[in-house]
Amino acid sequence: MTLLASPCCKADLAALACTRCGQTYPSHGGVPVLLDEATRASAAHERFDAKYRGDDPDPWGYLDSAAEAMKYEFMVETISQLLPGRDAPVADIGCAQGLLAARLPELSTRAVAIDLSVHAVARLKGRLEVAAASALALPFYERSMQVLVLSDGLVSWGLDPQQRVAAVREAARALAPGGRAVFVEYLNPKRHHELTDAVRGGGLEIDRVHYLDDRLWYVTESMFRSLSGTRPYLAVARSRGWARALKGVSKLLGPKGSKHLCVVGRAG
Ligand SMILES: C[S@@+](CC[C@H](N)C(=O)[O-])C[C@H]1O[C@@H](n2cnc3c(N)ncnc32)[C@H](O)[C@@H]1O
Ligand SMILES: [Zn+2]
Repeated sequence: MTLLASPCCKADLAALACTRCGQTYPSHGGVPVLLDEATRASAAHERFDAKYRGDDPDPWGYLDSAAEAMKYEFMVETISQLLPGRDAPVADIGCAQGLLAARLPELSTRAVAIDLSVHAVARLKGRLEVAAASALALPFYERSMQVLVLSDGLVSWGLDPQQRVAAVREAARALAPGGRAVFVEYLNPKRHHELTDAVRGGGLEIDRVHYLDDRLWYVTESMFRSLSGTRPYLAVARSRGWARALKGVSKLLGPKGSKHLCVVGRAG
């Protein structure tokens, strides 16, 4: 059974029409585009969708980064601990080309991935349920989801503070009581509070905050970025051993030793 509802009324969709208000939605290459016209015409939509229209398999340069690979492993572990069973519904919101979303079917038989870009989610078609949709108008029924993931993320999507809070409210609305939203963000430690402020402002209780202890990895990566693409750079950037060594040192700095933080919010 589908996990997707109309983003306008959170009602059933029949042939991509909202059964409550009649709003219709297009599809692209067989993927539902559950976005209103204003969002489809927005600069943000164009900017993000353009990233995926070509055939670059890695538009954010994540595949060569041991820090990113370790971030995804941490998230898979975190989500698996939060899901009460194999049939608990889970969604990745802003899934990009799906480095995390592709792993959700291992954790749940009811997994869905959405992104503002239809070209991004099209890359995941056939592996789990997908749709183009916005975090600001989620295509999920009220209180229907057990775990929602919003990673890189609420702050980096370029939403203003009010929109961030509105996105958290949408997540809170779609979560079943006791369900969790997992927010991950890459931020200078001085700005970590922007994520926790938005989570609290949107009505979720903060369950826990994890720091990924990856600041030194990103500091050293930026020092050597002029070499990016060269063999020595790639060997170091992909090295788990190097990433783990820097993580051990970053950890000594406490929260200041992390660029990525993970905030788990709980729905009441
Ligand atoms: C930097 S990528 C992060 C991808 C992934 N979640 C991760 O952690 O690796 C950000 C993604 O969020 C999507 N995005 C931006 N604004 C969004 C919004 N309002 N709703 C849903 N997705 C959005 C973009 O299209 C892009 O694919
Ligand atoms: Zn409607």
